[in-house]
Amino acid sequence: MNESSPNDIEVALGQCAEEYAERSYVPYSSRQRACVLLLEDGSLIPGARVENASFSLTLPAIANAFGTAATLGKTNIVAIGFSFQPSKADLAFLQAHPLGPFIEAGDRSFKRNLITNLPEPNQVLDPTQLKPSDWSTRMALEIAGTVSERAVIRESNFPVGALLELADGRLIPGVNVEHPDWKQIVCAETNAFGTAVTYGLLDIVNVFLNCPTDDQASPCGACRQVMVELAPQATVWMDRGNRDAEQADVDELLPGYFSGKALHRNN
Ligand code: THU
Repeated sequence: MNESSPNDIEVALGQCAEEYAERSYVPYSSRQRACVLLLEDGSLIPGARVENASFSLTLPAIANAFGTAATLGKTNIVAIGFSFQPSKADLAFLQAHPLGPFIEAGDRSFKRNLITNLPEPNQVLDPTQLKPSDWSTRMALEIAGTVSERAVIRESNFPVGALLELADGRLIPGVNVEHPDWKQIVCAETNAFGTAVTYGLLDIVNVFLNCPTDDQASPCGACRQVMVELAPQATVWMDRGNRDAEQADVDELLPGYFSGKALHRNN
């Protein structure tokens, strides 16, 4: 029997979110924030705030957590706890998001509309997968293509898949997750980097991108800034439509990128 009251669960989710807030990448504002999603089976998906110097400037904690959830195909979210009081922008984002709808449950928590019994929170989901033993660039780009099948693309029907390779051999996937408010869309690359920040997995050596439907596609300016802030030494491999795969160094993709003092302080 689940003896926890909704309030206990809200407190537990809030505490978990506070721990993950410390993982935020916030060199510009120092505002550490996170939220945590509770899934139907009690597992948890956190999301931390990730700033960058290019529009849209911030990946909000909630968009980051939803991005991780959508990429993993874990969309059965029943509650959300925040480490901070969600802003009006967060509320508007939640109201219109394809993974919703959610209603306010407390000051810093939401629950899925019509849900009454919440499961006891248990383990935080691992977003990584292991690199297969017969690993190759071709295989990495194919996996990124499979990842793109989870894209949430009601607005554009334009799937993108990203796969980050970590130095320790693990992989972090990301898909683009769209929102009716176009400014709130999260690209595949930023989504995967957002997951890497939340989980503290930033030793990224390669970024594999697959855009199956368009051989003219290329990482957008904001994603280039995110990549150069978080993985300046990484290589980006791109598989686009029927074109041959191409590679570029992250710092080559955005000549003259923003690199102000904020990026060099220890925060
Ligand atoms: N998109 C990405 O996922 N990555 C990029 O670098 C460029 C654009 C997505 C955003 C939106 O969901 C769709 O592609 C069309 O712009």
